[in-house]
Amino acid sequence: MSSPQRQIAFIGAGNMAAALIRGLLRARFARPEDITVSDPSAARRELLAHEFGVRATNDNLEATRGADIVVLAVKPQVMDQALNSVAPAVSGQKLVLSIAAGVPLARIERALTHEGVWPRVVRAMPNSPALIGEGATAIAAGKVATTDDMDLAQAIFASVGVVVRVNESLLDAVTGLSGSGPAYAFLIIEALCDAGVKMGLPRQSALELTVQTLLGSARMVQETHLHPAALKDQVTSPGGTTIAGLHALEAGRLRATLIDAVERATERSRELGRPQSRDED
Ligand SMILES: NC(=O)c1ccc[n+]([C@@H]2O[C@H](COP(=O)([O-])OP(=O)(O)OC[C@H]3O[C@@H](n4cnc5c(N)ncnc54)[C@H](OP(=O)(O)O)[C@@H]3O)[C@@H](O)[C@H]2O)c1
Repeated sequence: MSSPQRQIAFIGAGNMAAALIRGLLRARFARPEDITVSDPSAARRELLAHEFGVRATNDNLEATRGADIVVLAVKPQVMDQALNSVAPAVSGQKLVLSIAAGVPLARIERALTHEGVWPRVVRAMPNSPALIGEGATAIAAGKVATTDDMDLAQAIFASVGVVVRVNESLLDAVTGLSGSGPAYAFLIIEALCDAGVKMGLPRQSALELTVQTLLGSARMVQETHLHPAALKDQVTSPGGTTIAGLHALEAGRLRATLIDAVERATERSRELGRPQSRDED
C-alpha cells in the first residue's frame, strides 16, 4: 500500500517511533518529507532528522495540525499531557494511532472529542522485536474508527512485522502473550544455552544452535501452516532422543508454566490499566 502524499506526525520520537519510521520508509509507505516527529528532547529530534531526513519540531500542536495520521508514541505516564497538547488540532479528518501500553481507547477518545465529534482512534500493542522489523502487533478499533482506518493501521504496523486485529478487551491478553513474550523467549534461549554448556558445548556454539533452532522451528510453523503438534510428531521417533527430552519437559510442567506466565502477565496488565494504578505503568 503506498500513499506518498499522506502526512504522518509522531508525537514522541523515541525507540518505537524510530522503528516505525524506519519500517514505513523501507516499505515506501511514506517519504521522509511526509513525516514529522515532535519531541521535547533536542537530541532525539536531531537523531531522527539526521537518520531519516524527517522534519522535527518540539511543538506537538504544530506537528498534529499538518498531519493526516497522528501516532501517539509517548510513554503512558505522559499520555494525558500529550493528549492535551494535540487535542485542539485533532478533527474527524485525522486518524489517531496510539501505541501506549495500557492507555484505554475511551481515555484517548474522551480527551480528543471536540464539540460532540468523536475522534477516529486505533489502539495498537506492538512488541520489542518491532525495533528490528520483526514485531507482533495487535490493533483494536476505537468507537468511530472505520474499516479503512483499520486497514491503514494494519499497513503501518505491517511495516515492522505481523499484525492481528482484536477487540480492545483482548489487548491485556495480547500484552501477556506477545507484549511480554520476547522476555519469555530470551529466558528460554538462555536456559537452552546453559543446557548446551552443561552437556559440554562451548557457549557461543550453544547460542548459535539454540537461536537458529527456535528461528527455524518458528519459520516451519509459519511456512508449512501445519499444527505445531504435527511438526513435533514428525521429529519424534519411537524410543528416540526427542521423546526422552519431551518427557522431561512434560514432567517439568513446561506447558502449564507457560500458560501460567501468560495468565499472570495478562492479569497484571489488567491491574495496571485500572485508573488507580496508572502511575505504576
Ligand atoms: N519499546 C517497546 O518495545 C514498546 C512495546 C510496546 C509498546 N510500546 C509503547 O510505545 C510507547 C513509546 O515507547 P518507546 O519505547 O518508544 O519510549 P521512549 O523511547 O521513551 O520514547 C518516548 C519519547 O517521547 C518523548 N516525550 C515525552 N513527553 C512528551 C510529550 N509530552 N510530547 C511529545 N513527546 C514526549 C520522550 O522524551 P523524553 O525522553 O525527553 O521524556 C521520548 O523521546 C510507550 O507508550 C510504550 O508503552 C513500546
